[in-house]
Amino acid sequence: MRFGSRAAARCAVGVALVPVAISAAVLPAAASPRDQAAPSAQAQEDRSHGPAIRNGLRTVTPDDLVIGTAVAGGGHHVNAGYPDPFTRDPRYRKVLATEFDSVSPENQMKWEFIHPEPGVYNFGPADAIVAFAERHGQVVRGHTLLWHSQLAEWVTEGDYSDEELRAILKDHIQTVVGHYKGRIQQWDVANEIFTDTWEGDEIRLRPQNVFIERLGEGIIADAFRWAHEADPEAELFLNDYAVEDMGPKSDAYYELAKKLLAEGVPLHGFAFQAHLDLQYPFPETLDENMQRFDDLGLETAITELDVRFTLPESGVPTAEQLAEQADTYQGVLEACLSVDDCNSFTIWGFNDRYSWVPSFSPGQGAATVMFEDYERKPAYWALHETLAEAKAGR
Ligand code: G3I
Repeated sequence: MRFGSRAAARCAVGVALVPVAISAAVLPAAASPRDQAAPSAQAQEDRSHGPAIRNGLRTVTPDDLVIGTAVAGGGHHVNAGYPDPFTRDPRYRKVLATEFDSVSPENQMKWEFIHPEPGVYNFGPADAIVAFAERHGQVVRGHTLLWHSQLAEWVTEGDYSDEELRAILKDHIQTVVGHYKGRIQQWDVANEIFTDTWEGDEIRLRPQNVFIERLGEGIIADAFRWAHEADPEAELFLNDYAVEDMGPKSDAYYELAKKLLAEGVPLHGFAFQAHLDLQYPFPETLDENMQRFDDLGLETAITELDVRFTLPESGVPTAEQLAEQADTYQGVLEACLSVDDCNSFTIWGFNDRYSWVPSFSPGQGAATVMFEDYERKPAYWALHETLAEAKAGR
């Protein structure tokens, strides 16, 4: 087993944490066992990890890496039974500020949010995240510019000529990137542009991407050039899921990256989203895969890591599941640490309450590093220890 001894050590922690987390989530506040039991299991746990809780992940992260998270809001949160996490959950904001040194708007910079009508830009929600980041000494990953999903209806349904469609994309990229000029460290310029199914070695650019479908593959290079013109300092990335292992999809990106670089396109990095699921094997070739992009002179990044699994009928994750999840988080971090220019490591949210996973995959969940009440899971401590060891060794 890859991380067997650590898994065994974390198992015990998992057993102690789970019942408290779940009971607090389902009971009304006044009846919380935390009010009656002193000290609570969380208090004990917090005490045993006292210095670490005060010293969040960002304080143990090596200087050449940033530890990041998606900032919850929009998308699946809109119809959820809780107020907007980023603007309305004070504890969320505190943890966001103390644990992370990079933030990625989860939905707030996507086309349907930031450019909902022709000529109408709604920068407010994303501006608030960028301002928060600056107040807390954090960098920002911009997400995302050229994507088939969460596009505004006026683009997908509009009756535009090819020339008009091209002008619409250029205006969008230059207005959004220009608005944040000098304030965004990395942009996911092109997101999920390849299909994720293939026959033999055949993998195609996504037909659902109206820009690529109508304007051809060359629009990808243009998107990078336009973004670079608008902010020459920003690092520009390709970003996708199901590319963690060596295989047809990551090969397609590798070939595209080589081609773009040969053409002098301002491509600076390749990003692995890493939405992982315990029912599939760990992507054992991730380090090798990252290394080949690094060898092209590109930066690499982990941009959306979460690790889901099928919950038992009780809804309570087992100690084994939590241990395996911790190993998976750790394995992805170790792959990033093994590559020279993997400088950004982002998890797709840090609290199960706000994770996108249950709304997309009913029956699955618990994919983040904290329970709903912010209690840290074994996966959190796996990241913490691994970062601290790496920092000490550098
Ligand atoms: O657009 C429909 C709207 O027509 C409908 O009325 C409404 C009803 O709920 O749903 C709307 O779709 C929502 C969509 O966001 C757009 O707002 C979906 O329900 C909602 O589940 C979706 O969630 C976001 C998802 O991207 C959309 O693809 C998640 O919050 C967000 O975490 C997730 O993030 C993506 C990254 O950007 C890219 N990589 C994969 C990652 C996870 O899917």
